[in-house]
Amino acid sequence: MKRIAIFASGSGTNFQSIARYFRHHKEVEVSLLLSNKPGSGAVCRAEKENIPVVLFTKGELYNSNKVLGQLLENRIDLIVLAGFLLLIPQSLISEYEGRIVNIHPALLPKYGGKGMYGMKVHEAVIRNGENLTGITIHCVDEEYDRGSIIFQATCNVLPDDTPESLSKRVQELEHKHYPRVIEKLLVGN
Ligand code: GAR
Repeated sequence: MKRIAIFASGSGTNFQSIARYFRHHKEVEVSLLLSNKPGSGAVCRAEKENIPVVLFTKGELYNSNKVLGQLLENRIDLIVLAGFLLLIPQSLISEYEGRIVNIHPALLPKYGGKGMYGMKVHEAVIRNGENLTGITIHCVDEEYDRGSIIFQATCNVLPDDTPESLSKRVQELEHKHYPRVIEKLLVGN
């Protein structure tokens, strides 16, 4: 079995789509949810899916071995960020070089970087009059949203879109593609 750890601190809809996709998979399992937000949607969904949760503080992420220790102890093969907003520390990047992926709700390199997350991205896309947006799945390095791009999918921005209506269209793409891209990375299907 290849073992995934998902880092999430938001509502956790991507976490859930990945967890469900792999629930009966023969070669891949979601082994852990790691979060710095107790009580978040992601944590509640993990509890419902019976996936073990590891909670940590920002201080523990940057100044202790708690998170890395949990990943090693659980023999994690791939780290998946799904709505996780803290920068991944260098110690994790070194240990898991090329084995950390993130999803971003726009077509990077546009609309990325610190502070660009969730609804802020869709607001900026609409404000700038873009007629195309989408999702980017990329490798994680020590800078926000800069690692090499693995996969992108696009959708239209419609003239009457609000950030909310656009976010729904983008999230549909995320839920459809993220699990399949992870599967391809781990088992090449
Ligand atoms: C997703 O749309 C993801 O692309 C975005 O946060 C949302 C989390 O939703 N991530 C970023 O903006 C990272 N810069 P979820 O908690 O429902 O999966």
